[in-house]
Amino acid sequence: MTTCSAPGKVYLFGEHAVVYGEPAIPCAIERRARVTAEPRNDGRVRVEANDLSLDGFTVSWGDSVEDRPDIDVPTQLVEAGMGYVDEAVGQARDAADAPDAGFDITIESDIPLGAGLGSSAAVVVAGIDAGTRSLGVELPPGEVADRAYRAEYAVQDGQASRADTFCSAMGGAVRVEGEDRRTIDAPELPFVVGYDGGAGDTGELVSGVRALREEYGFAADTVTAIGDVVRRGTEVLRGADPSGEPAPDLLAELGRLMDFDHGLLSALGVSSRSLDAMVWAAREADAYGAKLTGAGGGGCIVALDDTGGTETALDYTPGCEATFRAELAADGVRVEE
Ligand code: MEV
Repeated sequence: MTTCSAPGKVYLFGEHAVVYGEPAIPCAIERRARVTAEPRNDGRVRVEANDLSLDGFTVSWGDSVEDRPDIDVPTQLVEAGMGYVDEAVGQARDAADAPDAGFDITIESDIPLGAGLGSSAAVVVAGIDAGTRSLGVELPPGEVADRAYRAEYAVQDGQASRADTFCSAMGGAVRVEGEDRRTIDAPELPFVVGYDGGAGDTGELVSGVRALREEYGFAADTVTAIGDVVRRGTEVLRGADPSGEPAPDLLAELGRLMDFDHGLLSALGVSSRSLDAMVWAAREADAYGAKLTGAGGGGCIVALDDTGGTETALDYTPGCEATFRAELAADGVRVEE
C-alpha cells in the first residue's frame, strides 16, 4: 500500500492566458490531496473518495452514477472526478508497464473540488505517483507532472495548460510559459483565500474564453495584456529577497497587478457575482490586491493581506462560505508515511 500527496495551488497571475502560451505564476499551497493505492490481482479498480463528493462514498468501475442514490452531489462533478481517476490509473499502468494492474484507491483531500485551487491536478499527480510506486516504479516529479498533464488534457478535451499539474508536482512558486516550465524564488506571500462554496466548469470556461478570443480582436488583446501583467509580476518577484519577509512596497506592487489581472479576467467573462463580491470585500479591507484564482465561474478568490483584515471582511461577506490563510507549500508530490 502506498500513499502519496500533492498540493493544491493559487494563481498569483496568469490563468486562462496560459492556455494560449502566455506566462503564468501558480503557487502551491498547503492544502493537499492524498491518494492511497493498493494493487489488486483481478485487474479491477475500486475507488473510495471523500474528494469527489465532499461526503465519503465508494464506487467500482462499471457503476452508473445514476444508480447510486447515496452519492448526493451533481452528477457532472462525480463524473469529472472519476474521469481524472480513470486517466491517472491509465498513466500509472502505462508508466509501470502493467496494463492489467488493478487497484484499490482511496482519495482524501482538503482541496474543494472545482473551486480554482487545483483539486483535480493534485488528485491526478498524487494518484499517478501512488499508483506507480505501488507497482514498484519511482518516477521523477517532472515525469509525474508530464503524465498528469496528459491525464488532465484528456479529461478536459484538449483544453489544459501544463501549469496546474507542473505546480502540484514540483511545489513552491512556478512559472510556466509554453514549453518553459521552472520553479522560481518567491518570498512567503500572505495569501488569504475566500471560497463561495461553489465550483466552475473549467472546460466550459476555457471554451468561453476561446470563443471570445476568436470573435473579438480586443479579447485576444486582453489575453495578451494578462501576459503583460505576468511579465511585469515576474520582474517584481525577481527584485524580491526570497528568504526574507516581503517588503510592503513589493506586496503593494504585486497586489496592484493582481487587481489588474482580475479586471482582465472579468472582461473575459470568467468572474461571477460572488467572486467579485469577495474581491471587493478584500480590497475594501485594505488587502494589497485580490483576484479570482483558477478557471473562475465560482469557487475561490485569493488576496494578499498581512493584517488579518481580509479574513474578517470575508467572514461578513454574503456568499463567502469559508476563508483561510494559505501558506506556500515547498513540497510538491511526496510519499506519505
Ligand atoms: C485552471 O486551473 C487554469 C486555466 O488556466 C486552465 C488551464 O491552465 O489548464 C483556466
